[in-house]
Amino acid sequence: MKTLLLFSTRDGQTHKIARHIAGILEARGKTCELVDLHQCREPDWANVECVVIGASIRYGHFHKSLSRFVNTYAQQLKALPGALFTVNLVARKPEKQTPDTNSYTRKFLEASPWQPQLCQVFAGALRYPHYTWYDRMMIRLIMKMTGGETDVHKEVEYTDWQAVAGFAQKIAQLPGKMT
Ligand SMILES: Cc1cc2nc3c(=O)[nH]c(=O)nc-3n(C[C@H](O)[C@H](O)[C@H](O)COP(=O)(O)O)c2cc1C
Repeated sequence: MKTLLLFSTRDGQTHKIARHIAGILEARGKTCELVDLHQCREPDWANVECVVIGASIRYGHFHKSLSRFVNTYAQQLKALPGALFTVNLVARKPEKQTPDTNSYTRKFLEASPWQPQLCQVFAGALRYPHYTWYDRMMIRLIMKMTGGETDVHKEVEYTDWQAVAGFAQKIAQLPGKMT
């Protein structure tokens, strides 16, 4: 049996967080499989004991593969212990870091047939040099309006790795499969 970690990423930060969680779970004796949600086929549910889904925000939205997956497999997901983590830049502000105060996460959960036992919001990374010119200008404008970093030569990782580790420990303690 394994823990399935599905990630939806555009620039790699959500994958990095998922890898970190997998490393902690593996150190606690769990078997983990990391799968790109954008290319995901139907999992072999019989071999899954826990599901973790991580997804980032781009221009206000999660990738469509997130809602597609939870809608398609809602029944299977409901029978498993599950955790969701979301990644975005507004969560660099402490008051936007909970599932209730992070509007992307709150709206997703309001509409989702899957209600994971655990949900956490993580601040992502700002990597200006890696963006296209258009994205760089747009993100810079948003950062200017919200009092963030505006130097387009900079890369800033806001992710709180201790919080990620704490989340992984909680996942490891989730009660087993409900069959
Ligand atoms: C083009 C672009 C659009 C973004 N739009 C948003 C946004 O609307 N709200 C937000 O909080 N963060 C936004 N972000 C920040 C990302 O969510 C953040 O960089 C995150 O770390 C990306 O995770 P990923 O690398 O796994 O895709 C945006 C980033 C980029 C590059």
